[in-house]
Amino acid sequence: MRVEVEGVTLEVEDHGEGIPVVLLHGFPLSSEMWMPVRTAIEQVARVVTPDLRGFGGSDAPVGDYGMGILAGDVVGLADRLGFERFVLGGHSMGGYVALRIADRSLDRIAGLVLVDTRASPDTDEARARRDEAIARIGGGDREAFLDGFVANLVGRSSRQRAPRQIAEMRAIAGGIPDHVLAGCLAGMRDRPDSAALLAKLDVPALVIAGEEDTITPPEVGEAMAAVLPHARLAVIPLAGHTPSVERPIPTAEAIVSFLLENFPQPAAPIRPRRG
Ligand code: MLT
Repeated sequence: MRVEVEGVTLEVEDHGEGIPVVLLHGFPLSSEMWMPVRTAIEQVARVVTPDLRGFGGSDAPVGDYGMGILAGDVVGLADRLGFERFVLGGHSMGGYVALRIADRSLDRIAGLVLVDTRASPDTDEARARRDEAIARIGGGDREAFLDGFVANLVGRSSRQRAPRQIAEMRAIAGGIPDHVLAGCLAGMRDRPDSAALLAKLDVPALVIAGEEDTITPPEVGEAMAAVLPHARLAVIPLAGHTPSVERPIPTAEAIVSFLLENFPQPAAPIRPRRG
């Protein structure tokens, strides 16, 4: 469905019933990255997966793609869907956005799912790499930039066994306009330090880490889980940076178990109710 928030129209998938679970995709992907786990999660919850502004089927206005802007869209979406409180999940860049929302609107968050993401800001080296990437995109070298970037979204096991995963994510990335790529790279470069925020996030949290992630190594997730007041860590074997695509079954199982334990509710019907 299409939902207008903050002057942009977002493409949003909305499935299942029960506690709302809003899942935010990473860079340079779209809500498609949640598809392999969605069917399992929607048996126990209402799963809402928007394409963030600029991505997938959502509008891609020229302008600011800071994490705060993307966060504002998601809160606007929750308002539009009537969610007073919801479980918020984010993969990598989606996690940066989720932490912006948690910082501003913790009262709206019932639980957190942080997937291969970090609370710390970019290091000086990472900022320099963002600048270099922005310059490459501006200089017409976007395809080579995306080839290199997307290849690292999976771990070594997936690279060997399922190269199609890289091809599929590369196809998603290929549709993202230059100004969105550059805008998000700048937004990620300039994101604030959320490390001190973690200890204040007094809600059930699940931290998921791909064992073979080289972008956000599992130690980063382990350290976040140690600081969050009520967190559990799930390390997904044989997965890299994108466990929902690489190892959907253990990833979905971790999310479903987390939801069932923390948000017990009547089971959703297997078939849609009639009349
Ligand atoms: C992502 O997967 O969203 C990005 O790798 C995050 C980043 O570049 O910091």
